[in-house]
Amino acid sequence: MVCVCALVRFSLTTGSTHITLLVLFSVADSLTSQPQNWNFPGARGAWNLDFPKQLKWNVDQESPMAGEQGGKNGSKPLGPGGYPDTRLLSNPLMGDVVSDWSPMHEAAIHGRVLSLRNLISQGWPVNLTTADRVSPLHEACLGGHLPCANILIKHGAEVNGMTTDWHTPLFNACISGSQDCVNLLLQHGASPHPESDLASPIHEAAKRGHVECIETLAAHGGDIDRNISHLGTPLYLACENQQIACVKKLLESGAGVNKGKGLDSPLHVVARICSEELACLLMDFGADTRAKNAEGKHPVELVPPDSPLTQLFLEREGHVECIETLAAHGGDIDRNISHLGTPLYLACENQQIACVKKLLESGAGVNKGKGLDSPLHVVARICSEELACLLMDFGADTRAKNAEGKHPVELVPPDSPLTQLFLEREGASPLPELKL
Ligand SMILES: *[C@@H]1O[C@H](CO)[C@@H](O)[C@H](O)[C@H]1NC(C)=O
Ligand SMILES: *[C@@H]1O[C@H](CO)[C@@H](O)[C@H](O)[C@H]1NC(C)=O
Ligand SMILES: *[C@@H]1O[C@H](CO)[C@@H](O)[C@H](O)[C@H]1NC(C)=O
Ligand SMILES: *[C@@H]1O[C@H](CO)[C@@H](O)[C@H](O)[C@H]1NC(C)=O
Repeated sequence: MVCVCALVRFSLTTGSTHITLLVLFSVADSLTSQPQNWNFPGARGAWNLDFPKQLKWNVDQESPMAGEQGGKNGSKPLGPGGYPDTRLLSNPLMGDVVSDWSPMHEAAIHGRVLSLRNLISQGWPVNLTTADRVSPLHEACLGGHLPCANILIKHGAEVNGMTTDWHTPLFNACISGSQDCVNLLLQHGASPHPESDLASPIHEAAKRGHVECIETLAAHGGDIDRNISHLGTPLYLACENQQIACVKKLLESGAGVNKGKGLDSPLHVVARICSEELACLLMDFGADTRAKNAEGKHPVELVPPDSPLTQLFLEREGHVECIETLAAHGGDIDRNISHLGTPLYLACENQQIACVKKLLESGAGVNKGKGLDSPLHVVARICSEELACLLMDFGADTRAKNAEGKHPVELVPPDSPLTQLFLEREGASPLPELKL
């Protein structure tokens, strides 16, 4: 019986809130005979009512509910800046998200400038917050509505207000990616780095790839290298979320390319998620491929097996250690990727002599290159005597033909001493095709 009563009260209470509102609005509308705005039913008429009268009405509607809630005391406490009347406007049964919602919040989140202006002129306080301390300015910024944010700030809204989730209006503007709102807030004294690191505007913008917001924050003294222990730097977050434009902008703006999250560098995270584009970008800005993370691992060791990214690391760095590491981890040192060729081919192309040696000693196929182009072909073309010797020592085939049907020696530039080497090595067997 008690349960039934509670249910009835629940539906009655929630229902009557709406019904009564509608009645009020229709009465007001018929009096003023103004056209209805369906999105915000009868807004103009309704706000012609006496403000205190409306509050009183809300008090009457909600007071039994407040009593019922007394035992639970589960709702979040009102902040020091919270208006006592905010609670009276709330419907606790509808949960956190909509509880304490006011017409001010409603107008702000939807960017309804005229409604907001009317509400303010009728005495609604701009600093009105919900039990979660969400202000209309928070909502205007979350919606990215500059005109609404502007009106609220002009009427003295608190720019650094913090919700119970530590969100500031600036943080919300970085969620929506509204550079205009970010700029407005900073111009009116918003702190680029609010007290709580739990909701950092610049990190949020980096995570979501809002480059312009980052630029504006940096222009107002925001630290682009800000390091938060549980998030890392903005660069690290941008890499983690594959926000390429944002990573580029951060690097161009001077962000530390090796600053990540603890010992995990941006290159580590990029290796892990296997983004070739980001790895190139970071390496172009001098990322340290030898950095070790907390497990003592280099970025290349985090690349998933069989990823073409391994090749990139070899190509860029030619690190002997990389190859040792790869071979030790069961990596295929002869792995052939059509647009790159084998690691040996790449190492030859980039004249990474130590690396070529290591690969050959580790058993890499000496004739395996890129398509029909063998390592010896590439070495002939770039005219490296040392590499040619090395490859021949490991039995490179001097008679191999590339896609144009040419032998390596035919690719040696005229007048190069390398031609001599080929002749010496070939010994008695003459090269019939060769016209010397
Ligand atoms: C919640 O209620 C308990 C007892 O019912 C009380 O000790 C506690 O202080 C209350 N908490 C708040 C935040 O009101
Ligand atoms: C809103 O709150 C801020 C900070 O507490 C205060 O400076 C400002 O005067 C308040 N505005 C109004 C209109 O009450
Ligand atoms: C970031 O700060 C934490 C402490 O908050 C520190 O342990 C860590 O080394 C810093 N990381 C970088 C990359 O500066
Ligand atoms: C490398 O792979 C491509 C196809 O991906 C193939 O056409 C080519 O012959 C292979 N090259 C070598 C040297 O194995």
